[in-house]
Amino acid sequence: MLSEDPSPTPVSDAELAAILRWYVDMGVDVAVGDTPRDHFAEGAAKAQAALQARPAAAAIPNSPDTAPRAGRTAPRLSQAEPLPVRAASGSGSVSPEHALAEARELAAASQTLDALREAMDGFDGCALKRTASRLVFADGNASAKIMLVGDAPGAEEDRQGLPFVGPDGRLLDRMLAAVGLDRSKVYLANVVPWRPPGNRSPNSPEVSICLPFIQRQIALVAPDLLVCIGDVATQALLGVREPITRAHGKWFEFETETPAGGSHRIPAMSMFHPSYLLKAPVNKRYAWQDMQRLKKALVKKGLC
Ligand code: URA
Repeated sequence: MLSEDPSPTPVSDAELAAILRWYVDMGVDVAVGDTPRDHFAEGAAKAQAALQARPAAAAIPNSPDTAPRAGRTAPRLSQAEPLPVRAASGSGSVSPEHALAEARELAAASQTLDALREAMDGFDGCALKRTASRLVFADGNASAKIMLVGDAPGAEEDRQGLPFVGPDGRLLDRMLAAVGLDRSKVYLANVVPWRPPGNRSPNSPEVSICLPFIQRQIALVAPDLLVCIGDVATQALLGVREPITRAHGKWFEFETETPAGGSHRIPAMSMFHPSYLLKAPVNKRYAWQDMQRLKKALVKKGLC
């Protein structure tokens, strides 16, 4: 018979350091609680509970679903019912189609930035929400005429609940200062408001599901000028397919809604993401030129 070993095998400092390094490499780089928590199991349980909480179709008189149909053996899921977990879809516990439809509905119904923030906070259709600590909605001045949009929050943003407050943000602040701007003169947000684990880029289902929110956020801020920071924001908001190495510094147009429900176009510039500039500082000279172009446009519009 095997006897239970009462004392765990001692782990050396070097082994502990190797385990921690491995965690960080796997994207587990933030300690958010004292005990482990399985967010994925929680999402699956929530979806299951929502399915069970729905009244059975048979209980609704005259429901088309109660009418006998030849050959029907299993109940059909209606449009409004949550579908089973689809882990790789970016939408968490519901189908991507349902998540996108809900995001569009919530965004369209939000008449103020506060209402939009609340709607986003209550939205469970993006799987990233489960692994992030909190929603990162915006920073800066909501009355600003210049709005900057990045891709998604990083570790520091996730901790503080504010966009661009980590090393990327510090470089962005210096770039803004170079053209006489600071956070009191701009409004900052991200395409995806929840941190992707391990600081990876958000994938395209995650971007698509969150797109109605950032589009609505831009419409509610109603800036005169939009700056897309990096590839993800440039492609998602401007539909630009060329890489940022070619798109940066160019002017595009972003079509946004007016408060009256119409649409209008605002000038939009694409620029290098500060995280890229930190890794490839040789490109800072191009970023400098782009900031000068931005300044010229601001002066022309009387915004600087
Ligand atoms: N990178 C982004 O795109 N957004 C942030 O908020 C931080 C880093």
